Amino acid sequence: MSIGIDDISFYSSGMYLPLATLAEHNGEDPDKYRIGLGQDRMGVPSQDEDIVTLAANAGRPLVTDDNRNSISTILFATESSIDQSKAAGVYVHRLLQLGSNCRVVELKQACYSATAALQMACGIVARKPDAQVMVIASDIARYGFGTPGEATQGCGAVAFIVKSNPRLLSIHAESGCYSEDVMDFWRPNYRDTALVDGKYSTIIYLKALRQSWKNYEEAGGLAFDQFSRFCYHLPFGKMAEKAHRKLAVTNGVSMTDELLEQQIGASLHYSRQIGNSYSAALYIGIASLLENDAEDLSGKHIGLFSYGSGCVGEFFSATVQPGYREHARRQAHVDMLEQRQELDYPSYVVHFGRSVPADGGRHDFAEEAAGYYRLAGVHDHKRIYTEIGD
Ligand code: CAA
Repeated sequence: MSIGIDDISFYSSGMYLPLATLAEHNGEDPDKYRIGLGQDRMGVPSQDEDIVTLAANAGRPLVTDDNRNSISTILFATESSIDQSKAAGVYVHRLLQLGSNCRVVELKQACYSATAALQMACGIVARKPDAQVMVIASDIARYGFGTPGEATQGCGAVAFIVKSNPRLLSIHAESGCYSEDVMDFWRPNYRDTALVDGKYSTIIYLKALRQSWKNYEEAGGLAFDQFSRFCYHLPFGKMAEKAHRKLAVTNGVSMTDELLEQQIGASLHYSRQIGNSYSAALYIGIASLLENDAEDLSGKHIGLFSYGSGCVGEFFSATVQPGYREHARRQAHVDMLEQRQELDYPSYVVHFGRSVPADGGRHDFAEEAAGYYRLAGVHDHKRIYTEIGD
C-alpha cells in the first residue's frame, strides 16, 4: 500500500506588493530582489485575513460531500499562531463543515512543522488504511519595515489530503533528519515580527541540508542521480538555488544553469509571487512543480528538503503518481494569484502594519478579504470568522 498526498490546494492574500515598488522606496536596485533573492511580489494580508482564513480558503476545494466525514484528523502547522491554547485548525474545522468525529491539533517548529505533520499523517494512515488526514500549513511572514528581511515577507496557506493509494505523490518511508539548538530566526511570544540573523540563517539552512542528506543516505534512501526533480523550503527562490548547488557538490555532480532550471525551476513559480509562507512554502513549491513542469513526471522521484529555523531539517522523497496531472489544480491557483489587487507602498504600510486589537473591546473589520472566509472582527478577545457575504 502506498501512502501520500492525494490532493493539494493553496491560497494567498487578496493583495500583493510588487517588490520593484519596495525596492524603489528602499533605494535598492530592483534586481537585488528580482535576481539576488529571486522574488517578484509579496502577499500582503488585509486586516480581515489571517492564518485561519488563508487556511480555510486553501482547504475548501479539498472537501466534498464524499470525504467530509472521512477526514479523521486535521494537523495544522504554523509558526504565526494566533492563540497560545486553541488550535487554529478548530476554526477551520467549523468553516469547512467537517464531521464532528475528527481530531484537530496544532504543530510548531518554525517552517518545518508541516513536514512533521505529513510524517504523522502517513503514520495514522499506515495504522488505519481507510483514514484521510488533512494537513494544513498557514503563515504570515513578518520581519518589519526597513529590515533586511522585509523583501522576504509574504503569506500563504496550503492544504493537502494524506491517504492510502494517493493520486499525486507517494511518500517514501526513508527520511533523514537533523536538529541543532541555534538562534538563526525566532519570534518571542511578545513580538509580532520575527528576529533573524539573516546571513547566519542561510548558513545553518545549508548545514541542515547536508546533515539531513547524510542521514537520508544512511537510512537507505535514493541516490542523488535517481531524482528527476527537487523541492526545497523556500524563504526566497535564490535559497533553493544555493541549496541545490550545495547538494550537487556534496554528491560530486557539476551543476549547470540548465540542469538547475530543469531540476528546481518549476517549483519556484508560485513562491516568486507570494513571498515566504514559512511552514507552507515547501508544499506550495511541490504544487508549483506538479502544475508547471512541462515534462510528464509520472513515475519520477522527487527529493524534498524541509527546514525550520532553530533548527530542524528533514530530507525525504516521493514518487509522482501516474495520471497526477488530471488532479492538479493549476488553473484555480493561477487565477487566484492573477486576481489579487496590487498595492502601492503607502497602502502596503497600512495593511502590513496593522495588528489585531488586544484591548478586549468590540472591533469590526472592513470587508477587504478576497476568497470565501474573513475575520469579521474581534469581540471580547474572541475572533469572529464568517463566510464572505454573511
Ligand atoms: N542585482 C543582482 N543581485 C544583487 C544585486 C543586484 N543589483 N544586489 C545584490 N544582489 C544579490 C547579492 O549578491 C546577494 O546574492 P548572494 O547571496 O548570492 O551573494 C543577494 O542579492 C542578497 O543581497 P544581500 O546579501 O546584500 O541581502 P541582504 O543582506 O539585504 O539580505 C537576507 C539577504 C539575509 C537573506 C535577508 O533577506 C534576510 O534576513 N531574510 C530573512 C531570513 C531568511 O530568509 N533566511 C533564509 C534561511 S532561514 C529559513 O529558511 C527559515 C525561514 O523561512 C525564515
